[in-house]
Amino acid sequence: MNTIGILTSGGDAPGMNSTIRAAVRTALNNGMRIKGIRNGYDGLMKGDIYEMNVSSVADIIHKGGTILGTARSTEFTNEEGKKRGAQILSDYGIEGLIVIGGDGSFKGAKALSDLGIKTIGIPGTIDNDMGYTDFTIGFFTAMETVSDAIGKLRDTSSSHGRAVVIEVMGRHCGDLGLYSGLAGGAESIIVPEHEFSIEDIVEKMEHGRKRGKLHHLITLAEGVGDPYSIAKELEEKTGIETKVTILGHVQRGGSPSVVDRLLGSTMGAHAVELLSEEKTNLAIGYVNGKLIEVSIDEAVNTKSQFDEHLYELANNLSK
Ligand code: F6P
Repeated sequence: MNTIGILTSGGDAPGMNSTIRAAVRTALNNGMRIKGIRNGYDGLMKGDIYEMNVSSVADIIHKGGTILGTARSTEFTNEEGKKRGAQILSDYGIEGLIVIGGDGSFKGAKALSDLGIKTIGIPGTIDNDMGYTDFTIGFFTAMETVSDAIGKLRDTSSSHGRAVVIEVMGRHCGDLGLYSGLAGGAESIIVPEHEFSIEDIVEKMEHGRKRGKLHHLITLAEGVGDPYSIAKELEEKTGIETKVTILGHVQRGGSPSVVDRLLGSTMGAHAVELLSEEKTNLAIGYVNGKLIEVSIDEAVNTKSQFDEHLYELANNLSK
């Protein structure tokens, strides 16, 4: 393995830069060349590829986003596009590729592996929606952001005696709403993994009000329902003024947390080690405190496990 390529794909996530830094420096330390591919598979199709050196990744360990840029490519999704992508990598002398992203990005990596490019996937997404790994890079930072927002909304909601529906990201996964809701002491948590009942939330709001609670914080995972309709219904049924805050893309930014930097640093270095052993079609994960590898097929086909215990705990603690 002489030359490695690296790209970030899908939604950006804090910690991607720490991952790139680790991969670049490990490759160089081991006498390999490493080329950065800008803007994910889209940049690959355009041949937007450059040689990286030690300084290319200086001063980025603490930075959010991705210095490589990211994008979604429509051309790369068809068979012809994938073949062309593999050819472009070969033309640039790239024998091994590190793909940092979510399951869509991993499917592209698998296709390239089938076409003869050695590929390793690293899970980078704030959604934590990849079942083969306990955590994805970016999730911890996003949780900090959401918990911080919940804390701030608690202050103002208590002052005004209001409830607030806080819409959080996560695509089809409720982890971000669940974990940050528990950490932020949200009274109600609405996630795609559970049916929710407006009546239960109404009851909780009324019960809380009776015992002198001035706020009611509800985390709502995106896509489960319209936050404005939910807020309106709650307000009509309880008489408690209910606001809406949609956190949006603020959840994707910010300096990566220590955990995301550590995950990124260890996974980035490990990906290079695997490529130097000529391994391919593997996804790196983190399970029970250790780095693991599974096939990319297994990574994309393992359903994310919702933590029922945490969900129950969050409900019980916020009564
Ligand atoms: O996958 C990360 C994520 O932020 C999801 O939580 C969200 O549904 C989606 O990306 C938003 O995508 P975009 O930035 O393209 O609007």
